[in-house]
Amino acid sequence: MKSSAKQGSLIVSTGSAVPDFTINNYQISQIVETSDEWILARTGISERRLLTDYNHSVIDLAVEASKQALEKIDMDPLKIDLIILATSSPNDLFGSASQLQAKIKAFNAVAFDLTAACSGFVIALVTASQFLQTGNYNNILIVGADALSKWTNWSDRSTCILFGDGAGAAILQSCSLQNNEILGFHLSTDGNYSDQLSLAYQNQYSPHPSLKLAQGSFNYIQMNGREVYKFAISKVPESILLCLNSLNLSADDVNWLLLHQANDRILKAVADKLSIGSDKIISNLNKYGNTSAASIPLVLDQALSENKISKGDIVVVSGFGAGLTWGTVVLRWMSD
Ligand code: COA
Repeated sequence: MKSSAKQGSLIVSTGSAVPDFTINNYQISQIVETSDEWILARTGISERRLLTDYNHSVIDLAVEASKQALEKIDMDPLKIDLIILATSSPNDLFGSASQLQAKIKAFNAVAFDLTAACSGFVIALVTASQFLQTGNYNNILIVGADALSKWTNWSDRSTCILFGDGAGAAILQSCSLQNNEILGFHLSTDGNYSDQLSLAYQNQYSPHPSLKLAQGSFNYIQMNGREVYKFAISKVPESILLCLNSLNLSADDVNWLLLHQANDRILKAVADKLSIGSDKIISNLNKYGNTSAASIPLVLDQALSENKISKGDIVVVSGFGAGLTWGTVVLRWMSD
């Protein structure tokens, strides 16, 4: 954190929500040519949750996760100054954060969406901490929520095995600089590789013969799995080391690696490159798959409910994905 900061930031509560419907690897093998053995060996995923209910949307998941976080600390939603909703699968392209604001009755909060795919929560965390450091806001709700099942091609076995739906929320509060939890961050994008993982808009037709205007819609998720894998295992360790070094910390100081839950092999390869024991990896990939912007707050909420993280622990949080964008935040956990 720069010395110009007026105040620190602290994660004071978390919450999470997943849909009820579970689809396991065997059930997916009834849809595309694959097997439980193949999926488990290549990804570490056994099952994932899908938003199948016609009347429920990604915002309902975000609302549930947010309400949980508010209730845990008995916080009046009117105290929230800002809501940042990290999502790439909104209900409304103009932004869905305002729907969340209304549903949780956080009427004093300004609310906006942040689109950065699987790095969305990390970037939301950094963005929120900037508003807190300057002293402009005191209470910020950040939510990572995605329902990529809506944008998955269920005939494409290289992508449909990976993704699940979910939401995770965190409430950040201003605090004294001594209690600051967010020690530092490092964020990067390389847009030259944006076509390696995309959910792209495509022009299709002109709505009126006399109007030279193409209109279209969004495609399914397209991914070059091998390239994304190579990108993740080279850039994520680099980002973590840069961030740790800037704080005069080393990989030996890390108590927990809380990475975007994309693939078990990626998590292990990142830990190996940093010589961090796999017992320090926090993971729930097996049960939920890759829930995009939701994956980090979902697994954080779970780790906290299991009392895994203790006061003083150094927690390295890294997100990576479409963009290609990646980033790290180093936390010193301050709550008991
Ligand atoms: N079941 C069975 N076989 C499959 C399959 C599936 N679900 N998906 C692909 N295959 C096949 C391929 O067709 C290919 O067959 P071929 O050799 O006959 O051509 C073979 O398996 C190997 O394909 P490849 O794409 O090289 O597999 P992989 O070992 O790279 O694993 C991923 C594929 C997607 C699991 C892996 O690339 C990956 O996890 N990448 C990162 C993706 C990711 O995390 N994305 C999100 C980032 S936020």
